[in-house]
Amino acid sequence: MQAAALISACALVLGLCAPGAAATGAAAAPLSRPAVPPGPPAAPDPGLAALGRRLFFDPSLSASGKLACASCHDPRYAYGPPPHKALALGGPHMNRPATRAVPSLRYLERVPPFSVKVTLGDGGVGPAGGLTWDGRAASLREQAMIPLFGPNEMANAGPRQVVAKLRRAAYAAQFRLEFGARVFSRPDEAFADALLALEAFERTPAEFFPYSSKYDAYLRGEAQLTAQEKRGLEVFDSPARGNCANCHLSRSADGSPPLFTDFEFDNIGAPRNPRIPANADPNYYDMGLCGPQRTDLTARKSYCGLFRTPTLRNVAVRDAFFHNGVFGSLRQVVQFYQQRDVLPWQWYPRNADGTIDKVDDLPVALRRNLDIDPPFEGREGGQIGAISDADIDDLIAFMRTLTDGYQPPGPQRAAQPPAKAPPAAGAG
Ligand code: HEC
Ligand code: HEC
Repeated sequence: MQAAALISACALVLGLCAPGAAATGAAAAPLSRPAVPPGPPAAPDPGLAALGRRLFFDPSLSASGKLACASCHDPRYAYGPPPHKALALGGPHMNRPATRAVPSLRYLERVPPFSVKVTLGDGGVGPAGGLTWDGRAASLREQAMIPLFGPNEMANAGPRQVVAKLRRAAYAAQFRLEFGARVFSRPDEAFADALLALEAFERTPAEFFPYSSKYDAYLRGEAQLTAQEKRGLEVFDSPARGNCANCHLSRSADGSPPLFTDFEFDNIGAPRNPRIPANADPNYYDMGLCGPQRTDLTARKSYCGLFRTPTLRNVAVRDAFFHNGVFGSLRQVVQFYQQRDVLPWQWYPRNADGTIDKVDDLPVALRRNLDIDPPFEGREGGQIGAISDADIDDLIAFMRTLTDGYQPPGPQRAAQPPAKAPPAAGAG
């Protein structure tokens, strides 16, 4: 959905969206990194969260009747896409293709609100925060309107259509119990209530921020990393080598579990993905912060091509990476970081004159926004230096320690029955 439509939906559901939410990040007061809340938020109301769970798994809330939030955000995959489904189909007939990869919904609880005036890690001031790849949604409840109304997602015409479905849902009585017997007679309020319920579910700690990876156990002193995982962490943290932790923070200043993102926006130069049908149009570009999904920052040319740094928690359970899902394995991603500047012909197509069409997913005039800090090495045809081939294996091993549900090995554990199977998508 376009930001304009989001704003009008905000207006419909009065008081729902933060003032100026999608429109005026620029007006917000400066925030600095410590403004990120130090710990997880208070647990949501259990009744509301349980109702939100019903909504989240309910395909009848889509125009097709086939698409629930959980179809794209599958609990078996850290609320990210199931295999081969990162670029999802949606719409009334389930044939409208996506333009962006489905992100995981885990570890969003501390994403600060979007602002263009955040004091950044490098000391400058710039954009950070907000939900979605371009930060255009200010809160989980505001974000939920994007898929509910998105023509290539759940494709509802408006709040009233959603509420008509809620009224017929198996959990309608639960909805009345939570929000009052006459809730459905005021559709705009009922819709706002539905968004609140979804948000409450998405803030359930055990589901959405369990902090149960091997790396969390390691930070708590309850697990040892293998030699390879340790080497991977060293490359990840070292400013002269991977420099990954510069953006994907592996520690937090206050000792709370790190989120592997600084919430900032960067242009990493992800190659154009020909599997996105919209890309068949040579004039179409998904430029992140400067549009076209977001419409309030289109004049800020220095923001074109910038996307929010995603968390790397649970990244090893994905099979599509970057905002456009262009890469299919973690190895490809790390090789890209290793080789983008030195061996660009490995990653980008050639122009008719034989030159490399580097950063081909942005109009030529905007390619100067490309991030060139380490591990990127600047010179084409030079020596690969920052990340060696052995480092790639080590980095991947380390990123695998970020998957939730770590079970420490040991005799007592081995004697126990296997861990309970995760809930199936579509259940509930
Ligand atoms: C057709 C697949 C699909 C469905 C159905 C879907 N989503 Fe998403 N979701 C996406 C994609 C793709 C994005 C990234 C959107 C963007 O960056 O513009 C996303 C982003 C999000 C985000 C922001 C994540 C972040 O990292 O900032 C949240 C929260 C979210 N979805 C919640 C929901 C909820 C709640 C529902 C059901 C009401 C839902 N989604 C239904 C595909 C889907
Ligand atoms: C300058 C900041 C920055 C640095 C340094 C950086 N990243 Fe990233 N990373 C990003 C951004 C921004 C994205 C999303 C880019 C996009 O979608 O176009 C990303 C995406 C990723 C993804 C894909 C995640 C997903 O859910 O699709 C992986 C994996 C990743 N980075 C790993 C690494 C590793 C490993 C390193 C070090 C070798 C590293 N990053 C260094 C900013 C950074």
